[in-house]
Amino acid sequence: MTERFSPKVIPLVDLRAGAYSIPAAALMPASRMAASGLVSDALGRNLRDLRISVTDRCNFRCNYCMPKEIFDKDYAYLPHAALLSFEEIVRIARQFVAHGVQKIRLTGGEPLLRKNIERLIEQLAALRTLDGSPLDLTLTTNGALLARKAKALKAAGLQRVTVSLDGLNDAVFRSMNDVDFPVADVLDGIHAAQAAGLGPIKINMVVKRGTNDQEILPMVRHFKGSGMVLRFIEYMDVGATNGWRMHDVMPSAEVIQHIGSELSLVPLDPSIAGETAERWGFANASGEHDQAAGEIGVISSVTQAFCSSCNRARLSTEGQLYLCLFANQGYDLRSLVRSGATDEDMASAIGHIWSGRSDRYSELRGAMGADAGTGSRRVEMSYIGG
Ligand code: GTP
Ligand code: 5AD
Ligand code: SF4
Ligand code: SF4
Repeated sequence: MTERFSPKVIPLVDLRAGAYSIPAAALMPASRMAASGLVSDALGRNLRDLRISVTDRCNFRCNYCMPKEIFDKDYAYLPHAALLSFEEIVRIARQFVAHGVQKIRLTGGEPLLRKNIERLIEQLAALRTLDGSPLDLTLTTNGALLARKAKALKAAGLQRVTVSLDGLNDAVFRSMNDVDFPVADVLDGIHAAQAAGLGPIKINMVVKRGTNDQEILPMVRHFKGSGMVLRFIEYMDVGATNGWRMHDVMPSAEVIQHIGSELSLVPLDPSIAGETAERWGFANASGEHDQAAGEIGVISSVTQAFCSSCNRARLSTEGQLYLCLFANQGYDLRSLVRSGATDEDMASAIGHIWSGRSDRYSELRGAMGADAGTGSRRVEMSYIGG
């Protein structure tokens, strides 16, 4: 039986994450919980997806994620000793897999900035689920280093990549990344990933009303029939530094209507339970899905929260386990792993933490009304990973 525990909460020494940390000792309630390949949270959601942030640094300064005014040259990034080592990451990941995780996504910051990331990928690619299958191993990148790294990533065992791309117009793209990075270099990276076989490639575009919404149709035209899946993401109130306002959100329904004014779309069934994106296929002349033209997706985190099927756990760069993108407290797995805990201790702690999970921030914020919830103390996306 699962034992609930209410550990004492202590502030992190460094409050960059705006978060509180729960110490290792509290993660070890007396009753042991062995991993069985299936663990449900308090709302009946099974643990399936682990997102691991491997660095809090990024070479872009997207205004909605790492605004320049805050993430400037004086910003104190995590010191190297604070980061989980690859060995620690793999040990922790193995316990998550024992609890039923089937997909691992590496994120950041920009994960390709982490030195020797290929070595980590090799080790994660060797993990197997309880039935002996390899993991769905993927990575979210801004694409800047992809042209250089795609082949090595594939060779290390990475299966696919998701590339963030907020527009095709060079001026719009440069202003969105806020470091004057040219769009052509990211497109080169995407082609290199395609050539290396890192597919199916997904392209994520965060839509900010009045900033890049004019890029929606050019993006659709560009990726239609490419074999890549373009997804439009509602700008979220994640973190506490991006000055989010509901006014800047373009609801997915409006995005679909806008695309539908030029191209016929048909709704598609989800490809897997707990999927973030709602899928739409390009229609042929008879109104059926044209497989060759492909599909797009919309991720409606703001207007249609998908917490009821959320199966995602997040491990921060310094080994804090977060149960929600909007959490204001993490569970300190790093101190647990560094305290000499056995694999069984770690599996037990993770099982207890997930069993007690009742987070459903987006649903609650949605119920409170548009601008509710902004300004509270919350972890930054660059720290916890998308
Ligand atoms: P695939 O397996 O490739 O479909 O990945 P995914 O859609 O699960 O992951 P991805 O990281 O591509 O998610 C795309 C975007 O959706 C993220 O960048 C976030 O903006 C948003 N998102 C992903 N997971 C969550 C979540 O659990 N909660 C909320 N609110 N938003 C999320
Ligand atoms: N809203 C929505 N998505 C965001 N991302 C980062 N910040 C936000 C935000 N405020 C996501 C984007 C990007 C990924 C790294 O994180 O999808 O592609
Ligand atoms: Fe970097 Fe991605 Fe955040 Fe942009 S959205 S600042 S590319 S981590
Ligand atoms: Fe999951 Fe939290 Fe996102 Fe809801 S808001 S889908 S619980 S991460």
